Amino acid sequence: MARYEEDNAAGTLADSGNEGIAPVTYGEGDRPPRGDYGRARADYTCEQQWSRYSEADHDTYRRLHARQLTQLPGKACDEFIAAVDRLGPAESIPRFEEVSRRLERRTGWRIVAVPGLIPELAFFRLLAARRFPVTDWIRRPEEFDYVVEPDVFHDLFGHVPLLFDPVFADYMQAYGAGGLKAARLGECELLARLYWFTVEFGLLNTAAGLRAYGAGILSSAGELPHALESPQARRLRLDLPRMMRSRYRIDTFQPTYFVIDSFAELFDATAPDFAALYARVRRSIETDGEIEAGDTVVEDQPVVVA
Ligand code: PHE
Ligand code: FE
Repeated sequence: MARYEEDNAAGTLADSGNEGIAPVTYGEGDRPPRGDYGRARADYTCEQQWSRYSEADHDTYRRLHARQLTQLPGKACDEFIAAVDRLGPAESIPRFEEVSRRLERRTGWRIVAVPGLIPELAFFRLLAARRFPVTDWIRRPEEFDYVVEPDVFHDLFGHVPLLFDPVFADYMQAYGAGGLKAARLGECELLARLYWFTVEFGLLNTAAGLRAYGAGILSSAGELPHALESPQARRLRLDLPRMMRSRYRIDTFQPTYFVIDSFAELFDATAPDFAALYARVRRSIETDGEIEAGDTVVEDQPVVVA
């Protein structure tokens, strides 16, 4: 858990009219979240304030978009490639309202602006209501290749295209509802690991070969080839208990990825009541411990790619 929580809990957030809870990240990190939470509403959403982007901001987006687009063929899953143009013209940071209009017509999802990372309960509530929070600020030019926190490029380019896919769209809503339940059970950390290894860093096995569907991969110029091609990366079959036992790092390329055969497989595998699963994972953590990022266990099933 990030150390900034102690410093941040009573300050700016408490004054802002929202719940006054600092965002939580379970990965390692020690900087407070960037972003002005004072302008957020009680549900942590805010106005996009599109007119406040500078020419340099739009240029950063344009260059990130152009670089990433050339990499997609043969690496991003078809569903992502089919939808990425629906974000609109790549010349400037899209207006969220316009993306929402197109998205809502397709799958009933909307995107809402947020100042940055938000607390998990607020996040789950939005997802359960088919609202996807998108950070509205963009990285500084010197962070072109690497930014620790999600910015508008990661959130929009990485996450929003798959919300146009009906099955994935339903998975994201189910995840949000599952989050509200996990919160009641005190198991948010285990559920957050599922998000990490699917929505952020998931791989899809297709007849044409391995493809990325995770937003953390698809929005990163370096991680996209690493995830798909590096002999250093481990690629395992979808395995919910294994994911939930696994710690992860937020500041390096992932050493381990999990592979699904379809979004339907992911949806079906996560449909059962997780209460029993959480209990089982807790027991295995008690007896065998957590799995450190990059470690292997004997039950691991590496995916053999055609
Ligand atoms: N089935 C899960 C539960 O009962 C909810 C869930 C669905 C979680 C999809 C994640 C993804 O808690
Ligand atoms: Fe993300």
